[in-house]
Amino acid sequence: MAEQRMDYSADKATRYAELAVEVASVVAGETSRTARYATTISLLVSAFGERFFWCGFYEVDPLKPSELVVGPYQGTLGCLRIAFGKGVCGACAASRKTIIVPDVHKFPGHIACDSRSNSEIVVPVFDGEKLIAVLDVDSTKFAAFDDADAKGLEAICRAMLKG
Ligand code: SME
Repeated sequence: MAEQRMDYSADKATRYAELAVEVASVVAGETSRTARYATTISLLVSAFGERFFWCGFYEVDPLKPSELVVGPYQGTLGCLRIAFGKGVCGACAASRKTIIVPDVHKFPGHIACDSRSNSEIVVPVFDGEKLIAVLDVDSTKFAAFDDADAKGLEAICRAMLKG
């Protein structure tokens, strides 16, 4: 099992690096992108547990390319659609940059799917140059995410699409 191989005493960057290798190895050769997304979420939540209160993908809708639609996730009910530019996910999609929000209540236009979320990180997912999704992680703790999470999650999103 993933959690048995994970060294919980390792620092966060090391844990993300181990996880990226594991994600790439589990999804290698898989033709379904949904299977890659769902597997990645499962491994992330197994590794980080309750620190990740909500963890999932919003995919760029091929039929409405300036709209995100919810993809595989774990956590409480998420909203189904987010327009580019709206909320943290939409801001990430529009800017194509990772966004770390230490206090979601201070982020203009934040979309509160669950009032227990207090901080959030959203990472863009690229297939080559093309934005195909964003990875959204919420925590009940304030300021739960930092640059190590940004780099770690960005690497996992790349690993997820390899092979
Ligand atoms: N808070 C997000 C919306 C998605 S949920 O957190 C699952 C946002 O502002 O984009």
